[in-house]
Amino acid sequence: MKEIETQKQYITKVKQLNEDKKNKYTILTMGCQLNENDSEKLCGMLEQMGYEKTENQEEADIALFNTCCVRENAEDKLFGKLGELKKLKEKKGIIIAIGGCMMQEKHITDKIKQSYPFVDILFGTHTLHKFPEDLYKALQEKRKIEDIIDIDGEIHEGLPIKRNSKIKASVTIMNGCNNFCSYCIVPYVRGRERSREPKEIIKEVEELAKQGYKEITLLGQNVNSYLRVEREKQIPFEEYQGVHSFATLLQAINKIDGIQRIRFVSPHPKDFTDDVIQAIASCDKVCKLVHLPLQSGNTKVLKEMNRKYTKEQYLNLVEKMKNKIPNLTLSTDIIVGFPGETDEEFEDTLDVVRKVNFEQVYMFIYSRRVGTPGDKMQNQIPEEQKHKRFDQLKALVESQIGQNNQKYLGTKQKVLVEGESKNNKTLLTGRTDSNKVVVFEGDKESIGQIVELEIVSEHMWYLKGEK
Ligand code: 5AD
Ligand code: SF4
Repeated sequence: MKEIETQKQYITKVKQLNEDKKNKYTILTMGCQLNENDSEKLCGMLEQMGYEKTENQEEADIALFNTCCVRENAEDKLFGKLGELKKLKEKKGIIIAIGGCMMQEKHITDKIKQSYPFVDILFGTHTLHKFPEDLYKALQEKRKIEDIIDIDGEIHEGLPIKRNSKIKASVTIMNGCNNFCSYCIVPYVRGRERSREPKEIIKEVEELAKQGYKEITLLGQNVNSYLRVEREKQIPFEEYQGVHSFATLLQAINKIDGIQRIRFVSPHPKDFTDDVIQAIASCDKVCKLVHLPLQSGNTKVLKEMNRKYTKEQYLNLVEKMKNKIPNLTLSTDIIVGFPGETDEEFEDTLDVVRKVNFEQVYMFIYSRRVGTPGDKMQNQIPEEQKHKRFDQLKALVESQIGQNNQKYLGTKQKVLVEGESKNNKTLLTGRTDSNKVVVFEGDKESIGQIVELEIVSEHMWYLKGEK
């Protein structure tokens, strides 16, 4: 708490420094929903410091990047943008700040310092809450700031936040990961698992309910091991409203008046205990779409990936969940082209996809990450082969989505209305419990409400509904 008080003082100091100037910032967020949630906190701090968000880089006084390092393409994007910003830096002395996961990688910060020496602030995943202090020092002392530490930073409560939506909100319940899947950089850049106190989470959701939020997504790298490390290592935490695990957290949040939908990402199949399955089945607000990352359908590849389950165990878990949770649908993450993956082994992935019939599949081409065991494996797959497999998987997934969409035709669906459709302002858009986008003609009064619609047509990535 003391740390946050210190940062609040810096917020005031930056505000004073800028006096009445109408300062503006841009923010580019890469990566997952956890990063999006971190960016909402960065925006919250900036707005309290008197900055206003703009989409126009030319008029910005601060260009902020919240980076991701899970796959390589984000690096290319960041370096491209930094190249573009050089002129603006020379012209009007814009402050450039880069934070997030990529900053926890030394080869990246070295490259920035060498090739883009005009960047003002570098901060990591464990020092995000200190952004007001870093910004103040950069402005006041006119020097470069590097604020990156390699310890498992504490969880800081009470940061200001400016949320992207007034209907749906993300709530981070834990930071870090202890799993060390061999392809994944996350445990190295986000540190070990640490859970937030139950009371803090429940208070945050209660507050969101009061503000009128309808849907909550609980976030963490491994949500279904919420508080497990604390329990196993006897790290003290305060039980609140009976919450001592992920299942009990779902039950407690399910009781909060006003909240109508609860989602969570991402769980790990190995931690999908019966109490969690039971909680999903029995909590009416918990959406019956569960994201269950598969990564590969082949037992040998899964072992190399250090996923700690076999193809059969995954399929059995799906069976059990489908039996216990009525109307369950599933989504997943899959990586193609992990080192050593043969065509035959890849067939197992296609086989699981056919068997499970996912509602949505997020597909990734394996990307070598410096410092992970996967990067050191000798048998890397040629790019061309990875792309071939990706296309094969994509074709299968799209044919399944097309078929799955058919089952919605003529049904009544409860849709949480999110706003105007981006492509056609005369239509409204919302989502079903199973996270399918539905567009329909309706009046704006229904934004933020759950309405019942009949599905009249399907278009691969969205459905059309009628009142
Ligand atoms: N290459 C490709 N995809 C990856 N993911 C994580 N690390 C990598 C990598 N090195 C994918 C996984 C994970 C999702 C968030 O990103 O599928 O579930
Ligand atoms: Fe990465 Fe595996 Fe942890 Fe997910 S569970 S963040 S894939 S190491």
